[in-house]
Amino acid sequence: MIRSRIVGTGRAVPTKVLTNADLMRMVDTSDAWIVERTGIRERHILEPSLAASDLATEAGRKACDKAGIAPALVDCIIVGTVTGDCPFPSTATFVQKKLGARPGSCAFDLSAACAGFLYGMSIADAFLRVGQFKHVLVIGVEVLSRITDWTDRGTCILFGDGAGAVLMTAGDDGGASPRGLLSTHLFADGGLTDILLQPIGGSREPATPENLATKRHFIQMNGREVYKHAVRNMAAGARTALEVNGLKADDVAWVVAHQANIRILEGVSDRVGIPMSRFFTNVDRYGNTSSASVPTALDEALEMGKIKQGDLLLFAALGGGLTWASAAVRW
Ligand code: UT7
Repeated sequence: MIRSRIVGTGRAVPTKVLTNADLMRMVDTSDAWIVERTGIRERHILEPSLAASDLATEAGRKACDKAGIAPALVDCIIVGTVTGDCPFPSTATFVQKKLGARPGSCAFDLSAACAGFLYGMSIADAFLRVGQFKHVLVIGVEVLSRITDWTDRGTCILFGDGAGAVLMTAGDDGGASPRGLLSTHLFADGGLTDILLQPIGGSREPATPENLATKRHFIQMNGREVYKHAVRNMAAGARTALEVNGLKADDVAWVVAHQANIRILEGVSDRVGIPMSRFFTNVDRYGNTSSASVPTALDEALEMGKIKQGDLLLFAALGGGLTWASAAVRW
């Protein structure tokens, strides 16, 4: 059976670090509150002269290098982001040029907030299995610092900037004990658009001086509601991935889930019955980087030698929309 597989990963992290102590000088908060409620200790912030495509290109180049595939051989670049370089053209087209991928190859962005990377992986999987493309680069990148209200302590403590990428290709899955992408599941509930959004900057409320004065071009979030749905839906998505593949919680070597908040991950761990010792976490050092968080965590877990050939990986993410997704991968 033809199955797609991740053959290279990469990440790009801005050099500037913003610690909880730094935030205490900006808003009325404390290191103890942030650590207890979120698990976050620091996050990285992109320097003003750079944009999403710069981070995305760095992560994408590393993924190509690790895979040993020249950028010129990449047939399609999919970028999951809600903080692209500009409303159009797509960030993926900037990445194609900066990476030195082929003019004429496919490049597009997709908007599924924190689930954007897993949505992208699912689309790449479909392209690869039908044989439309041979090499697909999937990137999650966010520069959330540019749409964060740094005077709002309810949101500014959470978010960070970064990019993660995977290079995917397809091939025979090895028969009896298949390796590669086993399944992806994508979900959305448009009845919940109002609990996490950036209202201003699109066609409904353009970025006019009057609209910008309301500060609603920054992330608006009902934290408690998002929290509740994140635990419930990421757990449900993860359970679906297990059930569809006839797998049990004990079969999972690593859960690589969206790094939004350590308590959300603990809630998912309880509901799915997989101990936190098998959740890879780096939210303490990066904060919530939305679509970048899953591929960044995957790349870091691989670099640390935590993932071995044959390991079962379970992916889950949830973000604005709401959108959520899960995937099962035999490494
Ligand atoms: O990728 C998906 C994107 N979003 C998320 O994943 C976010 C999901 N939500 C969360 O992670 C949590 O809801 C937060 C971390 C945002 C907030 O934690 P919480 O435990 O839900 O706190 P809360 O909003 O219920 O606020 C509790 C108290 C409030 O004070 P009162 O009303 O009890 O006096 C807040 O005003 O904590 C206060 N508070 C803070 N205090 C110190 C809110 N933010 C802060 C802060 N520092 N930064």
